Amino acid sequence: MWPRISPYRALKPLLFSLPPETVHGVVSTGLRAVQGTPVEGALARRYAVDDARLAIDAFGLEFPNPVGIAAGFDKNATVPRALAALGFGHVEVGGVTAEAQAGNPRPRLFRLPADDALINRMGFNNDGADVVGERLDRTDLPAVPVGVNVGKSKTTPLSDAADDYAYTYDRVADAGDYFVVNVSSPNTPGLRELQQRDALERIVLRLQDAGAAPLLVKLSPDLAEPAIEDSIALAEELGIDGLIATNTPVDRPDTLRDSNRTQEGGLSGRPLEPRATEIVRFVAERTELPVVGVGGIFTAEDAYRKIRAGASLIQLYTGFVFRGPAIARVINEGLLALLERDGFDSVEDAVGADLD
Ligand code: FNR
Repeated sequence: MWPRISPYRALKPLLFSLPPETVHGVVSTGLRAVQGTPVEGALARRYAVDDARLAIDAFGLEFPNPVGIAAGFDKNATVPRALAALGFGHVEVGGVTAEAQAGNPRPRLFRLPADDALINRMGFNNDGADVVGERLDRTDLPAVPVGVNVGKSKTTPLSDAADDYAYTYDRVADAGDYFVVNVSSPNTPGLRELQQRDALERIVLRLQDAGAAPLLVKLSPDLAEPAIEDSIALAEELGIDGLIATNTPVDRPDTLRDSNRTQEGGLSGRPLEPRATEIVRFVAERTELPVVGVGGIFTAEDAYRKIRAGASLIQLYTGFVFRGPAIARVINEGLLALLERDGFDSVEDAVGADLD
């Protein structure tokens, strides 16, 4: 038996003394080293919570539990199986763009320890659709669903965006279980203009023509309510399969205290939690489409709040950085306790429980 106490708390001061992107590289390398080895099975035995009450059916896919790893952690699809072994019930790889991109100059990822937050302006650094597509085709994928988050290449003009997204989709089509139109990252100039109706319609129709399904759209938390309503209406009209709420905002709550709060980029982590949950609720109140809730989830209570607000699935990234490798297990075990406390038979029964 491995000790039940996570060594992460002891390790964290060392990790947090290093630049965040360096740590991300070290962690990714470690995960790659264990993937496909007996350690992967040992991790799964330690971290994967196997309980039928956690299972979710959404957009035609079966998820063993509602807790996924959000886009941006495994941008190049190098460690999907290792992440599944850590207990995540789905893995969203990417954002992948048609062209390989270096992204913005470093430093471009900042910790805000005083706020349990990160700010990133990565700018879709990734190996590009050809390489990531081939990697996905070669990799033994996990048993849990793998989504592919698709972004736009920086040099592609907004008017050619649909071609760019379609190029990437073609290359990842065989391996992906679901696909995400990412028009909400704040770090590619002009990208978020693609959330506007005509542009989004063109991209979605193009991807649907190419066979992309299930297809989800990821929303920005900076959208005003009428714009979110437009996105919902378009999603229903076009038969989009679900909405992900939310990506990172450029807006900064006044509550931020950390000296890194003035860095440019998208904010993630605890300060995003209320806004993201509010958007989950806003969307879920207006559509039957499945909603994936993401933003500031660190604990089972945070996850439960998004689920009760209408999220069928949840995702996290920053919580993994601050809470360590046991986070999916802690949340899944905590969810089971919360379900029992409140008399729900399953997570699915709790989805939208707070909606009128
Ligand atoms: C992200 N996120 C992100 N989202 C996306 O759709 N495509 C991407 O490529 C990325 N890249 C990315 C990089 C880094 C370093 C971070 C921190 C985040 C956003 C992410 O998927 C999620 O929506 C937000 O981080 C909010 O969730 P958390 O981090 O508060 O749990």
